[in-house]
Amino acid sequence: MDHQGPAVGRRRLLGAGLLGAGLVAGGTLSGCTSGTAGGSGTPGGSGAAAGSRTPDLDPADWESVRAQFPLDPSYAQFAAYVLAAHPAPVRRAIEEHRRGLDTDTDAYLHGEDREEIVREAAAAYLGADAPDVALTDSTTMGLGLLYTGMRLLPGQDVLSTEHDFYATHEGLRLLAARTGARVRRVRLYEDPATASADEIVSRLKAGLGARTRVVAITWVHSGTGVRMPVRAIADMIAEANRDRDAADRALLCVDGVHGLGAVADQVETLGCDFLTSGTHKWLFGPRGTGVLWGREKAWDALLPVIPTFSGRIDLDAGEKTGEPYRPYGPGGLLGTPGGYHSFEHRWALSEAFAFHEAIGRERVAARITEQATRLKAGLAALPNVRLVTPRSPELSAGLVCCAIDGLDAPAAAGRLRADHRIITSVTPYQEVYLRFGPGIVTTPEQVDQAVKAVASLR
Ligand SMILES: Cc1ncc(COP(=O)(O)O)c(C=O)c1O
Repeated sequence: MDHQGPAVGRRRLLGAGLLGAGLVAGGTLSGCTSGTAGGSGTPGGSGAAAGSRTPDLDPADWESVRAQFPLDPSYAQFAAYVLAAHPAPVRRAIEEHRRGLDTDTDAYLHGEDREEIVREAAAAYLGADAPDVALTDSTTMGLGLLYTGMRLLPGQDVLSTEHDFYATHEGLRLLAARTGARVRRVRLYEDPATASADEIVSRLKAGLGARTRVVAITWVHSGTGVRMPVRAIADMIAEANRDRDAADRALLCVDGVHGLGAVADQVETLGCDFLTSGTHKWLFGPRGTGVLWGREKAWDALLPVIPTFSGRIDLDAGEKTGEPYRPYGPGGLLGTPGGYHSFEHRWALSEAFAFHEAIGRERVAARITEQATRLKAGLAALPNVRLVTPRSPELSAGLVCCAIDGLDAPAAAGRLRADHRIITSVTPYQEVYLRFGPGIVTTPEQVDQAVKAVASLR
């Protein structure tokens, strides 16, 4: 596939009144930052729309970062990663886009190519090429597109693990039902607290078959907080792929939602073939947004599931070829589900990337690690607590899971909220643990308060 792509096919879109000239015009991230957010061009800069009473962002000051969020400051927000509250620059951008769409829908829809602006911002954040990035509504939508669109040859099979989220398991179950492909799951560790990278890689390697086409893993397990050594897994798979034809190569597909925005690694460092993630968790992007990135060549393995509306593709090309499917445009554009969307949220996503980059991806990751490490040390020292997440920062990210003697996790979460004003969550898996997610909206002092509060849960 050529990233330049074929000639833009505007006739059909314009003829159908779907997308206007502006949707095929180029755009830049800076154009969005200053032009669409209604602010000063600096994330957090004061603007006229919602969030205008929020103090300007000083990205070097964590209190200023926290002040960008409307979250109730009388609670310690250790579950803010579950579904993003919108920081001020994102709120302002949403309001600005909403106002544009509400006031003169036609002109606003046909203005700048805002989808492309977001794609470029996502690509820059991911360390990827923009044409390889599809825009989605969630991690789950990305997983659905991936495992519904995956073209399997007869005899090819799928390998996943016992630790993935329901949406991966269900997506693969449906893939198996449609294609007859075998899906196997391996267990990568017995005790999460003592998991090791070597053990994880070797267990996955042992599960790899000669015809395994898809290896489906999760960057950070939301049931235990264990972070996968994705690079080491990618290297192991690359070795296994050495003598395979392109159509038989095993593709490493990653649900990245608890890594993106919490760990600084970009896609080239990870070395995977596909990464899907919501951008409405650790990244604090607009609710109902996400990305599906695929390596340029890897996109050839996927059929689009929902027809694209991309104004940058000749939408007649599919019919013209007469072939059941031949990629006729970049994967990220073909892979972006068409139809009209809640565009005010989708288009505001570039502000979330800008907000994160203004603070610094490495600084964000370090802030999360610092608090998670402190929290784990505190919890591990408590006699009434069993820490589930590994202590090692290399094998964990922001999620910290634990079990409390004599108290089930929902009861513990309830008491922390009611008695200590500490908001946590519980793991949505068979083994239910109490789960913390320290991040840019929490502080080391709140971590210490949380440890004290957990100590009192007897
Ligand atoms: C590992 C994992 N993947 C996916 C999801 C779902 O994410 P989304 O809401 O972006 O689909 C969750 C939890 O919400 C999760 O823990």
